[in-house]
Amino acid sequence: MKIKGKAVRAKKSKGQRVKNELKALGLIDEGRMVGSDEDYVYVPVLERVPDKYEVVEKELETREKRKGFRELLVERFGEKGAKGVLSSYDVVGDIAIVQVPEGLRAHEAEVGELLLRGEKKVNAVWKKAGGREGEFRVTKLMHLAGEERSETEYVENGVRMKLDVRKVYFSPRLSHERKRVLGEVKEGENVLVLFAGVGPFALEIGKACPHAKVVGVELNPEAIKYFEENIVLNKLGNVEAVLGDAQKAAEGEFSGWADRIAMPLPMGAEEFLGAAFSAAKPGCIVHFYRMVDRKGGVEVLKERIRKAAEKAGREVEFIFEKEVRPYSAATMQIVIDFRTRQSDNP
Ligand SMILES: C[S@@+](CC[C@H](N)C(=O)[O-])C[C@H]1O[C@@H](n2cnc3c(N)ncnc32)[C@H](O)[C@@H]1O
Repeated sequence: MKIKGKAVRAKKSKGQRVKNELKALGLIDEGRMVGSDEDYVYVPVLERVPDKYEVVEKELETREKRKGFRELLVERFGEKGAKGVLSSYDVVGDIAIVQVPEGLRAHEAEVGELLLRGEKKVNAVWKKAGGREGEFRVTKLMHLAGEERSETEYVENGVRMKLDVRKVYFSPRLSHERKRVLGEVKEGENVLVLFAGVGPFALEIGKACPHAKVVGVELNPEAIKYFEENIVLNKLGNVEAVLGDAQKAAEGEFSGWADRIAMPLPMGAEEFLGAAFSAAKPGCIVHFYRMVDRKGGVEVLKERIRKAAEKAGREVEFIFEKEVRPYSAATMQIVIDFRTRQSDNP
């Protein structure tokens, strides 16, 4: 829609300079767009422009404020209806993944369209059609709106990652945790990432610490394909992707190798503690992720870690713990960092 109002007229050759000056003076009317004809640009302005500018009356397009997804969703389905969607959707690159709650199933196509409209960078929307499945922890997805494409590129902590949301596990919800861990790594360390996926932990550590050697082990061949591609994409000569079982790698090729181990397998990493102790050098730090009950789950887990250490002839010192993200009312994902050392009483 066009509306008439005051605008500064300037020769096209001077247009950008005039715009910058008026912006610096805080005089631009942000509710209307800049217009132009063959010779002039018209910058919409508020009252009281210095005399040196030529002010005319001009019809200019109004700038419509783009509504975000939250606003659109609440407007259409109310706070209550929107709540379940807003807490469960993720954006990975230009793809949105959404879980449509039971109550909105009949409107799921509309939810998809609102996502496309409200999330500026989203070009494709997929809905969750089940939980994470199998060893590879891949979520079954069904196309909901926009392009029917599931491969995307995502940037996190300065690292570019290509991945296919239908073929591999990926969650942007651990980005802050990856940032914390990469900040702990010291140059020259050997870092072993078990359950590496398309490589977020390994790539981000490798980029932040060029003199650390980082190895990621992953069982899903599709994830390894992207992991390798991502190493090249980010030109990282200090990161290696290994296709295989974490236990075999930790007890075999990487036995006694690691100064630091990340274990991001929140459903069952404790099965691999023995292998992690094999890979750990004395003093090795382990970042261990697990879903636990909010009530007492942390202590139960620590006891399991102590027992596994004892079995491996090691001792552990717990140095950090926190909730990484909420999972359900009763459970949360946590990280526990511990240091390992040879037991005095083997
Ligand atoms: C929760 S995902 C974490 C992926 C990645 N670290 C991330 O944060 O995006 C767990 C990954 O472990 C892999 N995985 C499961 N069992 C494994 C095993 N025995 N050895 C190596 N990788 C395994 C799965 O394929 C999956 O990619």
